[in-house]
Amino acid sequence: MRRPLIAGNWKMHKTVRETLEYIKSFRELVRDVEDREIVLAPPFTALWIAGHELAGTAVRLAAQNAHWAESGAFTGEISPLMLKECGVTYVILGHSERRHIFGETDEMIRKRLEGVIGAGLRPILCIGETLEEREAGRTLEVLGRQVQAALQGFTREDLRDLVVAYEPVWAIGTGKTATPEQAQEAQSYVRKLLADLGGKEWAQEVRILYGGSVKPENISDLMSQPDVDGALVGGASLNPETFAKIVKYA
Ligand code: PGA
Repeated sequence: MRRPLIAGNWKMHKTVRETLEYIKSFRELVRDVEDREIVLAPPFTALWIAGHELAGTAVRLAAQNAHWAESGAFTGEISPLMLKECGVTYVILGHSERRHIFGETDEMIRKRLEGVIGAGLRPILCIGETLEEREAGRTLEVLGRQVQAALQGFTREDLRDLVVAYEPVWAIGTGKTATPEQAQEAQSYVRKLLADLGGKEWAQEVRILYGGSVKPENISDLMSQPDVDGALVGGASLNPETFAKIVKYA
């Protein structure tokens, strides 16, 4: 049984002060939630204090990226070791904003994955096609390339905590959600790709999240699909009440 995972990706939002205010109300709102995993991904500067404030709750912390090395001359980067010290459990990798705005390549994402796994952190690997790719009928091919490029060379044991997030680029921050059927089609294909790489049994255990304009109004329909095991939520995770509603979908 795959335990549902609902993650909030704050992107470049919220100061330390705003993070404290958010967590104060959020942890009360989700206090009774037990049958699903809740994850928050604040910006780097708020991770430590968020970890401190979430200690003793069921809410886990994610970082929005990580470098592959433990330390070194990599100005502007953050190492997995540093994240671990802040209480981080998960790391989002290969988000479409990293790929498309900051030019991260499949190879860089594979290396970051290696660093994250090496540090004992759990990767949330983001993949997804652009609108142009979808309209050209290339969605599955793009997903195949991204999954294979990121996961090649790892053993099943390396990937035991892997989470994949299917985030169609055209649905991110646009208010345009994929239909539950579109999400299911892509995500069942991703599970097939995983089965080809690491066997059917393992692929059945990997959680595949959907991301892209998830809101309280559409979460239940998305979650009703057999291969949608959770959500990666951007904009709608910035308000604690709204995000708590998504977390508590029926
Ligand atoms: P959105 O972002 O929910 O604001 O569309 C999702 C994401 O980028 O993870």
